[in-house]
Amino acid sequence: MSELERKPGAAAVPADWTYAPAPEARDIVTLRERYGLYVGGEWLAPHTGETFTTIDPSTEEPLAEIAQAGPEDVNNAIEAARDAYQNGWSTLAPSERAKYLFRIARILQERSREFAVLESLNGGKPIRESRDVDLPLSAAHFFYYAGWADKLEYAFPNRAPRPVGVAGQIIPWNFPLLMLAWKVAPALAAGNTVVLKPAETTPLSALLFCDVLRQAELPPGVVNILTGDGRTGAELVKHPGIDKIAFTGSTDVGKAIQRELAGTRKRLTLELGGKAANVVFDDAPLDQAIEGIVNGIYFNQGHVCCAGSRLLVQESIYEQLIAKLKRRLTTLRVGAPLDKNTDVGAINSRQQLDKIEELVQTGRDEGAEIYQPPCRLPERGYWFAPTVFTNVAQSYRIAQEEIFGPVLSVLTFRTPDEAVEKANNTPYGLSAGVWTEKGSRILAVAQRLRAGVVWANTYNRFDPASPFGGYKESGFGREGGRHGLEPYLEFD
Ligand code: NAI
Ligand code: MG
Repeated sequence: MSELERKPGAAAVPADWTYAPAPEARDIVTLRERYGLYVGGEWLAPHTGETFTTIDPSTEEPLAEIAQAGPEDVNNAIEAARDAYQNGWSTLAPSERAKYLFRIARILQERSREFAVLESLNGGKPIRESRDVDLPLSAAHFFYYAGWADKLEYAFPNRAPRPVGVAGQIIPWNFPLLMLAWKVAPALAAGNTVVLKPAETTPLSALLFCDVLRQAELPPGVVNILTGDGRTGAELVKHPGIDKIAFTGSTDVGKAIQRELAGTRKRLTLELGGKAANVVFDDAPLDQAIEGIVNGIYFNQGHVCCAGSRLLVQESIYEQLIAKLKRRLTTLRVGAPLDKNTDVGAINSRQQLDKIEELVQTGRDEGAEIYQPPCRLPERGYWFAPTVFTNVAQSYRIAQEEIFGPVLSVLTFRTPDEAVEKANNTPYGLSAGVWTEKGSRILAVAQRLRAGVVWANTYNRFDPASPFGGYKESGFGREGGRHGLEPYLEFD
């Protein structure tokens, strides 16, 4: 309990507004001790005989044993997908395909609390986000693409769209279920079958999704889930039975995949890293901008490819904005992912924490000024305090490289031209933000930013109807919207 401070004649005012813990109940999730591979509608033990432990990154507590799929397992999964493709799925009436997708969407909604708790448990993200963002958006994606399944001829008139075949899909750990939805929903709507590999640190929601597939009575082999690390991903990429690869993850692995597929007939889409500029002009509504900046970089601990990790502030409002931002950071609550009051959860893995710490150290060494609000981090698990760097030069590594953590680098500019030049001064081009009261300036600046998504007076907003994807080293191809169907279709 907090102490009460009483002034004579005044009402009691707590001196310290502590929050009582408000944990979301964990018992809605039933974990198995070990999980197999989901191939042809069955759970199979991996041929490798190898397993690894998946943990809760906020406590380092082991959660379950996960199968490491090897070359034989990859081969079997692709055969199951090919079989399902040829014997029913690709020729099924599109309106019937739609029904399965609608069913999956409905079941995700019905089981959303279970999925949200599991996602926070295995990935470290705050329950507030998995409950209010990951789950509703995942279901929305299946609803959205269910609607397209029997309208492909209208989506692409006079082009005779046909499915591509068997899609290999490799996803990262920052939005495990949502990235699954982004990949699986359009693939199935277009009549393809799928072999999907979740990231090694966050396999559990994809494995629970297999239960949803059974509940929806999706024909066996239409979706196969193989767990494993990068080796499994690499096997999937090089297997001759794959028609299309969709990858979301690091730029380095994306480049390696592109090299591997060069000269083959396989289709490829890549959604890679980012170093987005969030540009604040002097006429911006400041309090609103502060919320957008905070949401832009501290949402999901900054494990967001489109995170607004480079804040560009017009010089005339710099002092005022930084003061407000620092004040706002002191109100962020860092802690247990399953606590409903938590704003910033755990870092996803030891490996990612090491990377954040290394880059933050280079920021200090190169001469930037660091600010972290006072906050007590839990002893166990992987944690990093919300961080702001000021006095950052464009050449510093923290201004150039994707940190993928709760770390903001602040730069300044004087004119719109300078803002655009600095914003575009990056090998990436996934997203950007613009904050200004003037509609004309939004349009003028957005047009010159080399980024797949530009948010105006908001940040990190997603909608299944809106295409998402990058320029330059952020990758190519679009996910979401009508555009998101194209990579899964052949045309005459
Ligand atoms: P990663 O790119 O290694 O992992 C992403 C997925 O690719 C995982 O499923 C992984 O098992 C798989 N994979 C790894 N090596 C592969 C290979 N050779 N062939 C096929 N698949 C392979 O990313 P990692 O190592 O987890 O994170 C490193 C950095 O990458 C992060 O610090 C972050 O900067 C960036 N990243 C960006 C993401 C984004 O959404 N843009 C997502 C994850 C990481
Ligand atoms: Mg890696």
